[in-house]
Amino acid sequence: MASVPRIATATPAIEALSEFSSDVVIGLSHPGQKELPSKYLYDQVGSALFDVICLLPEYGLSRAGMRLLERHAVDVIDRVPGPAVVAELGSGSGQKTRWLLEALARRQRVNYYPIDISSSALFRCQLELAQLEMVSLVGFERAYLDGLHEVALRRRDGEHLLVLFLGSTIGNFDRAAGDQFLREVRAILQEGDTLLLATDLEKPEPMLKVAYDDPPGVTAAFNKNILARINRELGGDFDLEKFEHIVRYDQAERRIEMHLRSKVWQRVTIRKAGFRCYLREGETIWTESSHKYNPEEVVQMGERCGYRCAGQWIDAEWPFAQSLFLAA
Ligand code: AVI
Repeated sequence: MASVPRIATATPAIEALSEFSSDVVIGLSHPGQKELPSKYLYDQVGSALFDVICLLPEYGLSRAGMRLLERHAVDVIDRVPGPAVVAELGSGSGQKTRWLLEALARRQRVNYYPIDISSSALFRCQLELAQLEMVSLVGFERAYLDGLHEVALRRRDGEHLLVLFLGSTIGNFDRAAGDQFLREVRAILQEGDTLLLATDLEKPEPMLKVAYDDPPGVTAAFNKNILARINRELGGDFDLEKFEHIVRYDQAERRIEMHLRSKVWQRVTIRKAGFRCYLREGETIWTESSHKYNPEEVVQMGERCGYRCAGQWIDAEWPFAQSLFLAA
């Protein structure tokens, strides 16, 4: 293995770069493990690839979430104090939400507010859900917490808020950051409001490995697309052929990690960021963590963040939980 300086060039004036550009520069300048924030996996191409991942037989998460809501939506809604307005963090495909909105619409007119930074995600959600009877939909193109603040301001006296966080995206935060996020949501809520939280549960390592490294290579393409995105948007010169997608399971942290491993010693330039770095053969860029939980720890996580668990539903086929938390 050649010995090379980890970072060859001076870091350019970070303030002058866009947020994407500066996050990329910071992540690739880390003295130890290079990183790229997982939120940048989801441009238009990445989001389309993620939709395909959800169809893969090896990746059971989204189907488990869907099955739970198809079976238990009425039971979930029965435990939600009414009348309720619904805010969804990440509009997703809208399919999972349909079951809940239909159950709620049996007892009241429903105002539904999907919140997503992606306008195309909101548009797809609108196509899926806008025709539901008794449901009116207003999308918020915002970061989760900003959007939730705005929705909370719109509620009328006596109305409760039901917040949906259904994609198990909490698992992509570090555990401490997940707690922090739940606390920030709680700070916007009032007593009697509810949060329905999806979490992927622990399962045998081989089952997880193949879910994140599927034989057709869709997840590999999803992962490598972050480099392609840097090339497209920031004038990078990543040669995708020189990287391989790898997946690790960290037993102690109980998380799946996605990395991109450099097959050779190489130099990478990102023109618009005025940045250059080197990768050794075998060195990786860490692009995502997906934490796995056990059901009891999800309850405890809610409790230490200001909620009381009002119900938990677990899929038998693919260990996955939907937990309903009441703002205490
Ligand atoms: C969005 N998130 C819950 C997915 C997960 O499983 O952590 C993202 C993903 N990464 C690879 N495959 C799916």
